[in-house]
Amino acid sequence: MSTTRGLEGVVATTSSVSSIIDDVLTYQGFDIDDLADNATFEEVIYLLWNGHLPKENELNELTKDLAANMDVPKEIFDFMKQYPIEKVHPMAALRTAVSQLGLYDDEADEMNEEANKRKAVKIQAQIPAIVTGFSRIREGKEPIAPKADLGFAANFLYMLNGEEPDETSITAFNKALVLHADHELNASTFTARVCVATLSDIYSGVTSAIGALKGPLHGGANEKVMAMLSEIGEPDKAEDYIKKAMANKEKIMGFGHRVYKQGDPRAKHLRDMSERLTKVTGETKWYDMSLKVEEVVTNEKGLLPNVDFYSASVYHSLGIDHDLFTPIFATSRASGWLAHILEQYSDNRLIRPRADYVGPDKQKYVPMDQR
Ligand code: ACO
Repeated sequence: MSTTRGLEGVVATTSSVSSIIDDVLTYQGFDIDDLADNATFEEVIYLLWNGHLPKENELNELTKDLAANMDVPKEIFDFMKQYPIEKVHPMAALRTAVSQLGLYDDEADEMNEEANKRKAVKIQAQIPAIVTGFSRIREGKEPIAPKADLGFAANFLYMLNGEEPDETSITAFNKALVLHADHELNASTFTARVCVATLSDIYSGVTSAIGALKGPLHGGANEKVMAMLSEIGEPDKAEDYIKKAMANKEKIMGFGHRVYKQGDPRAKHLRDMSERLTKVTGETKWYDMSLKVEEVVTNEKGLLPNVDFYSASVYHSLGIDHDLFTPIFATSRASGWLAHILEQYSDNRLIRPRADYVGPDKQKYVPMDQR
């Protein structure tokens, strides 16, 4: 049997949710550049789940449905208060809470299309409340209920901080959500599809996906980028730091990609946002340092920034705790996971590849006293 390490280049399914062709990312055929400049995150959710941009009444209905489903069962927040909270990473809290959501949904194991769509709305609506609720609970505060008259991006920031955000923050956060929403058969989406292809339930699918996103080679990279920038400290220290790290064969977080070879099309939007937002906060050093890191990594290794690199300084400039960066990625990517899960259910076949066995052969059982 021949193997492909990491399944590189293997085409594992057909999908009409999103595509990466010649380094261009589209959601349902719409170029990400177009959506990033024009769409709200709610429109993107609708697009990913339904295959077309919503008409006004369709968007209103989705917005109303999301708002009506944002309240998280009280038991989930009560349980969070019992976590060893100072040791719990917010991605672990999110993974646990989404799994728990299934316990309080009478339809959790209902497999028909309508029930799965209702569950998709609930999961998409409740993830922001879980992420922000956890953040407040660990600060000794109570979770804040969402406001029905705020959009998705504004509500997230409101539930996190307890104050209605300004327009600049809402626009930037909305764009970040649009840019992270889907990405073909990335590792967490593949995980979700493998899980539900056993005809397991949608909560199990999203819980598995959160687990896969958490790793630093995938969504967890954005938090690591900020840790690296904080360690570098100042733009004029970036060159030495990166050259040393490369000489030690360390991976530079936020660079490289399995699929894009000419660059990740999402990075330029985040780079622009980083420049704008760091000017607003007066902390331009994060943008300057990021630019310097990019210059050195690209010159030395020919590697280009991926979506995670500039999102770090964007979220930092929005005043967000660094360990919430990956849960924010999950908040957005849930829309893509759910689209892929619904697509998988609609034309399912078990996903079960093979392994090329390279272990020892013809072994014989040896009794304990003879080993
Ligand atoms: N820093 C330094 N070297 C790198 C980096 C990096 N960030 N990325 C790739 N390379 C090097 C590898 O060391 C390897 O070099 P070699 O051939 O001399 O051994 C070569 O480039 C190929 O890299 P692989 O790791 O084989 O590439 P792969 O496709 O398996 O991995 C990945 C892609 C995981 C994204 C990788 O580039 C990486 O680890 N990047 C850093 C983590 C990161 O930013 N992850 C987020 C990705 S985007 C997302 O998931 C949202």
